[in-house]
Amino acid sequence: METSEAKTFLDDVINGLSSAQKQLSPKYFYDEFGAEIFERICTTPEYYPTRTETMILRNNVSEIAQRIGPNATLIEYGSGALEKVKIILEALESPNALVPLDISKEQLMVAAKKIRTEFPHLNVFPISGDFTKPVKLPKELLNAEKQVAFFPGSTIGNFEKEDAIDFLKSVRATVGENGLMLIGVDLQKNRDTILKAYDDEAGVTSEFNKNILIRINRELGGNFNLNKFEHVVTYNEEHHRVEMHLMSLAVQTVCIAGINFHFDLHETIHTENCYKYTHQSLSRLVEAAGFFPADFWTDSRNLFTVVLLTSKFRQNF
Ligand code: AVI
Repeated sequence: METSEAKTFLDDVINGLSSAQKQLSPKYFYDEFGAEIFERICTTPEYYPTRTETMILRNNVSEIAQRIGPNATLIEYGSGALEKVKIILEALESPNALVPLDISKEQLMVAAKKIRTEFPHLNVFPISGDFTKPVKLPKELLNAEKQVAFFPGSTIGNFEKEDAIDFLKSVRATVGENGLMLIGVDLQKNRDTILKAYDDEAGVTSEFNKNILIRINRELGGNFNLNKFEHVVTYNEEHHRVEMHLMSLAVQTVCIAGINFHFDLHETIHTENCYKYTHQSLSRLVEAAGFFPADFWTDSRNLFTVVLLTSKFRQNF
C-alpha cells in the first residue's frame, strides 16, 4: 500500500473502532487474500447470487447484447475475476473496449492479462483504485460511441442508500446521455436462504470477515487475536439487509498503532451491510439518480435480477 493509502486505512480504522457501534468499512476486505476468499465464497453451495446471476446473463445474453448494440465500451465496476463480463463480450457486436475497475490491483492485473489473451482484438484499459469515486476514463475513450457501465454481483447492496444514489449519479455522469448501465441486484426473499448465504457451512465467509483483522494486524501493527472474535450474521427486517459483524468472545483490549481499543464481552464490530431489493425499491433507487429501469431479467425463483438502465426515458427501447 502507498503511504497515503495506509494513512487513510489507519484513520478509518481508528474512527470506526472509536464509534459507539464499532465499525469497519467492507472495502477493506479486499486485499489480495480477501479477493481470493471472496472468489471462494462465490462457489459455496449456499451463496446463490453468483450462480443465479451467471445463469440469468447466459439465458438472456442475446437480448442483452441486442439492447446494448454495436461498438460499446464496457466499464466494469469492481471487476474481480472478469468472469461475468466475458459472457456479455462474447455476445456483443464488435465491442470497442473494456475498462475493468477494481480496488484489488493484484487481481486486476492478472485478470486483465488473461482477458487480453482471450479477446485479442479488444482494447483493455485496467484502472485500479476506489471505484466509488468518479472515474477518469483514458483519453482514447472520451469520445467513444456508447459507454455501458457493468455492475454485477449486487455490490450495489453494500452501499448505504444515499451512497448508492451518489454512486449511480457518478456512473451516469461517466456514461453520459447515451450511456447505459447493466446492474445485478439481489432480491428480497425468505431470511433463511439469505442468512445461509452469508454463513456457509465450510466457514469461508467467516474467514473473509476475519481477514479484515488479519489485514489490520499486518498493515497497521494491530494485535487482534482471531480466536477471540466470531463471525456473526443477522437479517435486519426493517432495512431489508444482512449485517455481518465480528463479535468479541471476551472482555479484551486490542492495540493498533499504539492506540488501545476496549471490547466488552459480545460487543461487535459491524463490518458489512448487504441490502436486498425488490423490483420496485430498486426502481425508486435508480430513478433518484436519474436512471430509468428499461428491462428486468429475473430467474424463475425470483432470487436475483439483472436490470438494464438507460440515462433517459426511451419509449422504443
Ligand atoms: C461483494 N458483495 C456483493 C458481497 C455481498 O453479497 O454483499 C460481499 C459478501 N460478503 C459476504 N459474502 C459476500
